[in-house]
Amino acid sequence: MREIERREPPEPELLESEADKLNFLMLSERMFYPDRHHPDSQAQRLAKRRLHSDEKSGVKFFALKDGGAIVAGGSLRIQDRSGLRIALLTDNFTIPELRGEAYSNKITTERLRWAAEQGCYAAEANVRTDNPTALAAKLKNGFNVTSLPPSLRQGSTRSFKIYKNLRLPATTDLTSSETAYQPEWEEIPLSDLDTIRHRLRSGWLGIDVKNAGKKESSDPQDWVLILEKNAPTLH
Ligand SMILES: CC(C)(COP(=O)(O)OP(=O)(O)OC[C@H]1O[C@@H](n2cnc3c(N)ncnc32)[C@H](O)[C@@H]1OP(=O)(O)O)[C@@H](O)C(=O)NCCC(=O)NCCS
Repeated sequence: MREIERREPPEPELLESEADKLNFLMLSERMFYPDRHHPDSQAQRLAKRRLHSDEKSGVKFFALKDGGAIVAGGSLRIQDRSGLRIALLTDNFTIPELRGEAYSNKITTERLRWAAEQGCYAAEANVRTDNPTALAAKLKNGFNVTSLPPSLRQGSTRSFKIYKNLRLPATTDLTSSETAYQPEWEEIPLSDLDTIRHRLRSGWLGIDVKNAGKKESSDPQDWVLILEKNAPTLH
């Protein structure tokens, strides 16, 4: 493993070249499926196939580079829903050596800035319910958990849908004593998906996650989702 000097994350880039995009896709595959080992030639072939379909649906790739090599990335595509442009965020990763150094935060901030500049009304993403670290990172970026769709196949891992409005005025202060808004909060274990789903269907929003004990654990059993009732409707 190569030595990487720790410092402030570099500036994000919107990738243009086919070589960069293929490197992004191969690295993303390794970050998401660390147990799958494809020989280089097969990994290249898979990435080319994926790039072909991603380019057709207008996917944009953002990356942070260290000495020319991609060390963190995230992609997005814009969907038109009845005239509203929504940015779908996908493929967010940071190489293990640089995790916890705000690289993902930088990539997501850039994707949100870019999406807002393109006239997007909101951003959405899916985050697996068994990935509290990824959920923490996205909620830190101002996303809310809005729903927990049923699993597509029996036994498959479920994903939360998360949402962020990109048009709220920056000055909105929901905690101001002058507002009539009285929030109510509840903490539900991240492993109790039935209760979480029930709350999300009854007007609650997931606004944060916290580790309920074992500091470094990424086991959903050790995490709680903080839900807020009757938050002002953002979408
Ligand atoms: C999820 C992932 C992208 C986070 O990348 P990262 O660069 O380490 O994230 P950041 O350092 O920018 O962290 C952003 C916020 O996420 C939260 N976070 C990140 N790692 C965390 C951890 N281990 N425990 C608790 N919170 C964590 C923190 O709130 C952090 O902000 P803070 O440090 O200011 O409190 C990275 O762990 C990864 O690549 N995982 C494998 C691929 C994956 O699962 N991607 C997610 C797809 S949705």
